[in-house]
Amino acid sequence: MTTLITGATSGIGESLAKLYADNNEQVIACGRNTEKLAKLSQHQNIESCQFDATDLQDIRSSTVAYTQFDRVILNAGNCEYIDDARNFDSSLFERVITTNLLSMGYCLEALLPKIKPGGQLVIVSSSVTYLPLPRSQAYGASKAGVSYLANSLAVDLKDIDVTLVHPGFVKTPLTDKNDFPMPMAVSAEKAANYIYKGVAKRRKEVHFPHRFTFILKFLRMLPTPLWLKLAKGLSR
Ligand SMILES: NC(=O)c1ccc[n+]([C@@H]2O[C@H](COP(=O)([O-])OP(=O)(O)OC[C@H]3O[C@@H](n4cnc5c(N)ncnc54)[C@H](OP(=O)(O)O)[C@@H]3O)[C@@H](O)[C@H]2O)c1
Repeated sequence: MTTLITGATSGIGESLAKLYADNNEQVIACGRNTEKLAKLSQHQNIESCQFDATDLQDIRSSTVAYTQFDRVILNAGNCEYIDDARNFDSSLFERVITTNLLSMGYCLEALLPKIKPGGQLVIVSSSVTYLPLPRSQAYGASKAGVSYLANSLAVDLKDIDVTLVHPGFVKTPLTDKNDFPMPMAVSAEKAANYIYKGVAKRRKEVHFPHRFTFILKFLRMLPTPLWLKLAKGLSR
């Protein structure tokens, strides 16, 4: 089995790449960081592939040698917060939407035709999409787009199974910069395990840690004005 993973040079993607490789699958680990890619390719069953996921031509030319994948995991992403919504930073907004959402479109155009019939597409979104949260206008909007994209693909793709991943907080370089408490945060290894097991079962949605995501799913059922009142309390 061959699995291509984007965002494999760090955090969740790196742990996933190692987990698949340790389970005797061939992994194509993707990212931009040359040093991290070189290190990853020393690992048994991992070969590296360098491209910028926001550049369609780069993705196409870097993956031209690959003809078929059993599984593609689109995980690359970044998070930046809007600190002052009143003075909205449109360049930050554009950066986050480009890295998290538009990149999905480029990867899909280049890689989807190479997924074998009966294969799998895994898309990593975020549990931020369950509720509007403070400072998350850019990240949340990008991931809401990602979740919609994945669910809509699941409707139309007849011969490929789509799994949408909604992680809670995971301790990675992406969240190391967070200056707020991250309830029930899990390690990247644990996150990779949840994803690995859910993907093996071809689940439509993988979300974790369950206690955290169930709370969010419950809060999502509150009337919007009530949630907005509560969320204002979280805002600084
Ligand atoms: N950590 C969390 O709490 C959490 C929660 C919910 C969802 N997520 C999502 O999970 C995914 C992985 O996050 P993480 O926490 O593991 O983050 P991370 O440790 O910062 O890793 C991000 C990965 O994305 C890659 N990447 C970023 N921009 C890229 C670009 N333009 N082209 C190619 N690769 C790019 C990075 O590789 P290079 O730098 O080598 O390009 C890196 O491998 C993201 O989509 C994130 O939104 C994370």
